[in-house]
Amino acid sequence: MKHWQLTQEDSGIAVAVLDKAGETANALSAEVMAEFATILDQLEQTPPKGLIIRSAKAAGFIAGADIGEFSQLDTPDQGRALVARGWNLFNRLAAVKYPTLALVRGHCLGGGLELALACRYLLTVDEAGTKLGLPEVMLGIFPGWGGMLRLPQRVGPAAALDMMLSGRTVDGKKARKIGLADDCVPPRVMEMAARQLLLSGQPRRPLPIIQRLLNGPLKAVVAHGARKQVAKKARPEHYPAPYAIIDLWQKHNGNALAAPEIVDRIIASPTAKNLLRVFHLQERLKGFGKESAFKASRVHVIGAGVMGGDIAAWCALRGMTVTLQDQTLERIAPALKRAHALFAKRLREPLKIRAAFDRLIPDPPGDGVLHADVVIEAIFENVEAKHALFQSLEPRLKAGAVLASNTSSLPLEALRTVLQRPERLVGIHFFNPVAMMPLVEVVVADGADPAMVGAACAFVRQIDKLPLPVNSAPGFLVNAVLAPYMLAAMRAVDDGISPETVDAAMLAFGMPMGPIELVDTVGLDIALAAGKQLAGGAEAPRCLQQRVDQGHLGKKSGQGFYAWQAGRPQKAAAGSVPAGLAEKLVQPLVDRSESLVQAGIVADADLADAGVIFGTGFAPFSGGPLHFSRQKR
Ligand code: NAI
Repeated sequence: MKHWQLTQEDSGIAVAVLDKAGETANALSAEVMAEFATILDQLEQTPPKGLIIRSAKAAGFIAGADIGEFSQLDTPDQGRALVARGWNLFNRLAAVKYPTLALVRGHCLGGGLELALACRYLLTVDEAGTKLGLPEVMLGIFPGWGGMLRLPQRVGPAAALDMMLSGRTVDGKKARKIGLADDCVPPRVMEMAARQLLLSGQPRRPLPIIQRLLNGPLKAVVAHGARKQVAKKARPEHYPAPYAIIDLWQKHNGNALAAPEIVDRIIASPTAKNLLRVFHLQERLKGFGKESAFKASRVHVIGAGVMGGDIAAWCALRGMTVTLQDQTLERIAPALKRAHALFAKRLREPLKIRAAFDRLIPDPPGDGVLHADVVIEAIFENVEAKHALFQSLEPRLKAGAVLASNTSSLPLEALRTVLQRPERLVGIHFFNPVAMMPLVEVVVADGADPAMVGAACAFVRQIDKLPLPVNSAPGFLVNAVLAPYMLAAMRAVDDGISPETVDAAMLAFGMPMGPIELVDTVGLDIALAAGKQLAGGAEAPRCLQQRVDQGHLGKKSGQGFYAWQAGRPQKAAAGSVPAGLAEKLVQPLVDRSESLVQAGIVADADLADAGVIFGTGFAPFSGGPLHFSRQKR
C-alpha cells in the first residue's frame, strides 16, 4: 500500500496508520479510500481483537476529503459517486464486528471526522492543534459521508447542527465534553489509553432521552429552529448548503443518496464552485507567507490608538511577545483594556488569558525596538511625525528586523526618505477591526528589499492573517475599491433613496454590511478625506458633507446616517428597492478592481478578488467582484 501501513501487534490489536504519500497532511483521496477498503477486506479474513486508526503526520489526523478531486467534478453522476464512495465505506467500517478506535491528534476535519465517527470509539489528544469539525458548509457542500447521520447521534441534534451549519470546530477537551470523544488524554499516555479503551468493551455513552427524542420524533421542531437561525445569516438563493443539511438530516437521516436531487443541486450550484474558488484563493494568499523562512517572536508596535493597540493585542494573542509604545502610559491603558477583553473572549481559560496578557508589555520609552523582529508604526497620519519617529528608530533596529508602517494614505515613498536604508520600509496595512478582518495588505514600494517583503508576508501568516502583496498607490487595493462603491451608495442617498433602502439592496446582494452603515462605522470625516484622495477630484456627496458640517461623524459620535445606540444603528424600515440598484452600486467597485489589476497594483484578477473578499467581506458566494462580473457577461 502506498498511503497506509497496517501492523498487527502481539496483543492481537491491528493498527492502521495513514501517511499520505508526498503530502504533509492527510486527505481522503480516492486512492487513500480504496486502500482503506483493502484493509477492511484483509481484516475481514482474519479479524483482529480491535483496530486503531491513526495518522503518521505531525500536522494532524485527517484534514478532510481531497479538495483537488472535488474541484474536478463535472457531471451529476460523478457527484453522486463521490458521496457514495465515503457513505458506503464508512458504513462498512461502522458495521465491523471487532472494536475500532480513532486516535485523533491535531486536525480531524470533514471526511476525517466522518471516518472517526464511524469508529466505535473516538479518543482525542489534549494538544493545542487538536480540532474536530465538519466545515463542508463553508465550501457550499454537506458532510455526506455519514457526518449528518452520526454526529447528531453522538452529540445530539442541536450541537451537531450548530457544528455542521457554522463549520465551527471543537478542541479535544470540548469534544469529550459534548460527547463527541469518549475521552481526551495527554499525548504521553495516548498509546496506552487507546489500547485500554479499544478493548474495554465499554458501551458508548447513550444520548440523554430528550436528545434521542429530538433526533427522532421531534426532529421537525429542531429543524424549524435551525432553519430560522440559518435564515438570519444566509439566504437560500446565495447559500443553499445549510438548508440542504437540515433537510437531509430531518427527512433522510443524513443519507444524501436517498435524495439525489439535493446532491445534484448542491454540487452543480455556482455557490459550491465559487466557495471552492475562494478556498483556493485563500490557499494562494497563505502561500505568500511561505516564501521566506523568516520567523518573528518579538514585535514592537508604536502608537497605541485604534489600530496600534489592536494590532499589538492580536500579535500577543497569536503568541508573540509584544512591546507597545505610545507617548504616555495613559494612552496605552485603553488598548490594554481592549486587549484583555479580546483575550477573555478568545482564550476563555484564565491561565491562557494571563499568559497572553503577560506577553503584551506597555513600553512608553520604546526599549522593545532593540529586540524586535518586527516593528510596526501606527501613529498619527502625519508625515512629519512619522519622519521624526523613523529617524530615531532606524539606528536602534536589529539587523534583519522588518520595519513597517500601517499607514492608510501616506505614500511609503514619502515616508522612507529619511531612512539610511529606505529599501527596508514596507507597509503592513491592517483593517479595522483588526481581530475580525482576515486580510492584511503588504505594501511594496518601488525598490523595496524583496527579503523584507517576504519576511513581512511570513510574519502576517504567523499571526494567522492572510497577506496580499500590493504595490504602493493611493488606497492600495481594498480602500481604493471601496471608495467608489461607498461614493455611489451616497450618491443614491443624494438622489432620494433612503440609507436603509440602499443598505437593504446591498445586503440582499450578499454584502455583510450595507455601504451606508459602513460609512457610519468608518467615520464620516474619514470617508470624506478618503473620498478626496481616492475619488479623482469628484465633489463630495451632499448627504456626507452636510452631516460632517453638523459634526455627525457616524458610530463614534453617536449620529451619522443613522443614530447609534449601544453600538447598533437604529434603522427605519427599508423602502422597496429600485430594480438594478445593487448592480449599479457594485459596478464602480468592479471597474476599479479591473483598473487596479491593469495598473499592476495587485498581480492578477484572482488576487484582486481574494483581496476584496477577505478585505471587505464582498459576497464570497459570488467568487469575488471580477469573477462575478465575468460570469454575468
Ligand atoms: P489613533 O489616533 O487612534 O492613534 C494614534 C496613536 O499614536 C495615539 O495614541 C498617539 O498618542 C500615538 N502617537 C502619535 N505620535 C506618536 C509618537 N511619536 N510616538 C508614540 N506614539 C505616538 O490612530 P489610528 O486610527 O490607530 O491610526 C494609526 C495609523 O494606522 C495611521 O497611520 C492610519 O492611517 C492607519 N490606519 C488606520 C485605520 C483606521 O481604521 N483607523 C485602518 C488602517 C490603518
